[in-house]
Amino acid sequence: MPRFTDYFSEMKLVFATNNQHKLQEIKHLLGDSIELLCLNDFNCTDEIPENQETLEGNASEKSFYIFNKYGLNCFADDTGLEIESLNGEPGVYSARYAGDARSAENNMNLVLEKLSEIKNRNARFRTVISLVIDGQETQFEGVVSGLILEEKRGTTGFGYDPIFKPDESHLSFAEMPMSEKSKISHRGRAVQKLVEYLSQFKTA
Ligand code: IMP
Repeated sequence: MPRFTDYFSEMKLVFATNNQHKLQEIKHLLGDSIELLCLNDFNCTDEIPENQETLEGNASEKSFYIFNKYGLNCFADDTGLEIESLNGEPGVYSARYAGDARSAENNMNLVLEKLSEIKNRNARFRTVISLVIDGQETQFEGVVSGLILEEKRGTTGFGYDPIFKPDESHLSFAEMPMSEKSKISHRGRAVQKLVEYLSQFKTA
């Protein structure tokens, strides 16, 4: 069986997502050298397991699930907001921080409430990407540090964007155009590392 690295330009790489926004962002960065597929492209409607207690564990679980079930080279990502004075919460639970009432609004409100009496508002977003090629895993991390604002600002983006201000800017993520956010964001930084890594395999 040919190895991925022997025929890189002819082979497919799956991104274990159906999030079109993330897919387009990564396609743009990868260029035409790879055929990038999402789960819909091979009719995968599985609920991909995400049962681990770390971002690393979840990213790995997702990419190996696809590789083991479909035999396709694959990468998956997992992201969390880590707040220093909350011992790294919400972290791996970022999407479901407000429990049954989870929504971007309720998750943000819970963070603001928990920090209402707290001076240290240092926080960071962290993304871990797990890439599995021919059964071998490599991970890439992207981090952006900043502060949790006292109140929500801005309307672009998603998730915790309105309450996060990166150190590199006076704007919240939700006050920036997407192109600005991608340059400095956790996901943008992790993807850059992935793209650099993959570029070494490009055939002439
Ligand atoms: P995921 O692993 O990319 O699905 O991210 C998990 C959760 O982290 C999301 O549901 C959001 O609540 C939050 N999150 C991830 N990336 C961002 C971001 O760029 N801005 C704001 N919130 C984010």
